[in-house]
Amino acid sequence: MEYIQLPKTDLNVSRIALGCMRIADKSVDEVEMLVKKALDLGINFFDHADIYGGGKSEELFGEVLKRHPEYREKMIIQTKCGIVPGKRYDFSKEYIINCVNESLKRLNVDYVDILLLHRPDALGDPREVAAAFQELYENHKVRYFGVSNHTPYQIQLLQKYCPYPIIINQLQLSIVHSVMIDSGMNMNMKEVWAQDKDGGVLDFCRLNDITIQAWSVVQASWAEGSFIDHPDYKKLNEVLAALAKEYHVTKATIAIAWLLRHPAMIQPILGTTSLQHLEESVQAIDVHLTRQQWYDLYLASGKPLP
Ligand SMILES: NC(=O)c1ccc[n+]([C@@H]2O[C@H](COP(=O)([O-])OP(=O)(O)OC[C@H]3O[C@@H](n4cnc5c(N)ncnc54)[C@H](OP(=O)(O)O)[C@@H]3O)[C@@H](O)[C@H]2O)c1
Repeated sequence: MEYIQLPKTDLNVSRIALGCMRIADKSVDEVEMLVKKALDLGINFFDHADIYGGGKSEELFGEVLKRHPEYREKMIIQTKCGIVPGKRYDFSKEYIINCVNESLKRLNVDYVDILLLHRPDALGDPREVAAAFQELYENHKVRYFGVSNHTPYQIQLLQKYCPYPIIINQLQLSIVHSVMIDSGMNMNMKEVWAQDKDGGVLDFCRLNDITIQAWSVVQASWAEGSFIDHPDYKKLNEVLAALAKEYHVTKATIAIAWLLRHPAMIQPILGTTSLQHLEESVQAIDVHLTRQQWYDLYLASGKPLP
């Protein structure tokens, strides 16, 4: 495993993190094995959200920490708040603070290392968010703050009032879902790929030392599921297979290596709950794609380049 110092923090994090969204329907024993495997592979970063499995994911993880209190100090734990299932979004001070208190109880921890705002709340007042962050920080419940699915201006607006640096923006990003990369390479073209749908979030985050975490690294979309072996991504799977053969890894490993190859030091958040897939995914650390291979994969996903 490789580690990076997250800019503006004292956190030394594994290049690859484990996302805990899909553990909700597992048993405590299964989650224990997954967490142990992740730690054995050198993963020290675990991503949660209050809503994963309606709180069940955090609860199961908390059960594992009850069994293994010694794990906590080896871990960097991140959770998110702000999505209200069935109702949409709530960035009010009271809601944010209450969410964190509930997450801490479920996770069986005194603090989380990082708190992210999960999705923008159109009615969110950055002054109120900043006040919530301040209370959480001063009460030693959250060490660092970030966002997910936020545009550059949304981040700047929040940062105007927030006394703590916004250190993370967690975004959907994969070879297939590469909107933030597409627009930059197709600038000033008439094609749909040139459309700026995120306000230049990739370069904004790089300019401001905000680490981009990639979610759904092997998913085409919620509806389509994984693009690995998907019939609609035949060409991509051919190129993935050829590179997988060359590097003696799996196609998914190559897809993750594609993200690691980008100079923005993107941190992939793995969604697998399979011990085998986890082990295979981490091998991406040792795959250094050439520039040509990176572009071959990009083109094989069906996107043009000018
Ligand atoms: N911020 C946000 O809005 C947001 C949204 C969604 C997710 N997330 C975070 O991102 C994490 C990952 O998201 P995700 O689960 O959608 O992404 P993913 O890593 O693309 O996983 C999607 C599916 O692909 C399969 N898969 C994963 N790795 C594989 C491999 N190496 N080989 C074969 N199949 C593989 C998994 O099934 P198997 O279990 O069978 O391997 C999983 O069901 C979540 O756990 C969560 O922490 C954040």
